[in-house]
Amino acid sequence: MIKLHDKYFKPFISAKEIDAAMTRLAKEIANDVGDDIPVFVGILNGSFMVVSDFVKKYPKPCEVTFIKLASYEGVKSTEDIQRLIGLTQDLTGRTVVVLEDIIDTGNTLAEVHRIFKNENVKSLKIATLFYKPEAYKKDFKLHYIGIEIPNKFIVGYGLDYDGLGRNIPEVYQIKETQHMTNLVLFGPPGAGKGTQAEFLKDKYHLVHISTGDVFRFNIKNETALGMLAKSYIDKGELVPDQITIDMLEAEVEKNSDANGFIFDGFPRTSAQAEALDKLMESKDSAISAMIALEVDDDILVKRLLSRGKTSGRADDADETVIRNRIKEYYKKTAILKDYYSAQNKYFGVDGVGSVEKITERLAKVIGNL
Ligand code: IMP
Ligand code: MG
Repeated sequence: MIKLHDKYFKPFISAKEIDAAMTRLAKEIANDVGDDIPVFVGILNGSFMVVSDFVKKYPKPCEVTFIKLASYEGVKSTEDIQRLIGLTQDLTGRTVVVLEDIIDTGNTLAEVHRIFKNENVKSLKIATLFYKPEAYKKDFKLHYIGIEIPNKFIVGYGLDYDGLGRNIPEVYQIKETQHMTNLVLFGPPGAGKGTQAEFLKDKYHLVHISTGDVFRFNIKNETALGMLAKSYIDKGELVPDQITIDMLEAEVEKNSDANGFIFDGFPRTSAQAEALDKLMESKDSAISAMIALEVDDDILVKRLLSRGKTSGRADDADETVIRNRIKEYYKKTAILKDYYSAQNKYFGVDGVGSVEKITERLAKVIGNL
């Protein structure tokens, strides 16, 4: 992974793959051009690397020239193409091959065609190393295409993000999500998870995903996934993990520019933990840590009994019921503790003390991630 300015990029196309594509382009073009001496026209800035490597692979005499256009701002193509340096030589009757690093919307290409409209060249062919078919909005024929890529921003091999990245010999793709802190928050009943989740959410600008809330939201709003989940619940069956994961994915996608997430109430099994890892990976991210609030049983019992007195919650009123809930919690979460420990991502935090004291301990763990 690399960082340019504020954005993270992941390896996408290796130098070797680029080299193979360039070799192929040079061969194809040399074949088609025959005995003509072509003029290769690079579009600056991006294409300097393509042109340089291409002409070294071109097996016959050729000429090279450049025009300079500018269209990109940040990570978005703009309609407004500036012609900074146009054609500086007469190309009447010549075989011209335009060499592009990348064709995205095709706006730049439209400008290229405008430039050549009155040049009376013998033939004008367009070659590009990279092509984003999903982004292309024009009808101009692309005669030679190196590698088709999805509509995501890339850098390297001449391509830049606000000036940086052009010198990298391979190509990197922008990460689907930027750097995130994703926490799985755990704690036995009465450990103060809810209170601490609120604090973490505000302090680190994280999105709190409580699985219970997500279920209730989907069912109440009768989303497709909510209806599907309800059909299992109504039959008295467990909702399959995949449905839960799909709901969580929708939440993650809704907040793809978040600093991270707090998962609360999920995962509960190692199969779910694996599914969550996969989900985060598909978003170019990962779970950073499982944080478990650790509180002694007797203290939990005391806390819950006193909460029961004011809340009137039936399951907070009876000591035996409370002890069973705590036992149940440890039985279920032991597996997860192992799962995240194996990845060095398990952090137990002492959950006894004042709220401020506990938040301080949590902040220390998160600060070290
Ligand atoms: P178009 O006019 O939308 O086809 O964009 C063409 C120009 O935008 C290219 O010559 C590049 O300079 C720039 N561009 C398009 N896509 C990318 C990308 O993914 N990374 C970096 N620059 C890009
Ligand atoms: Mg360009």
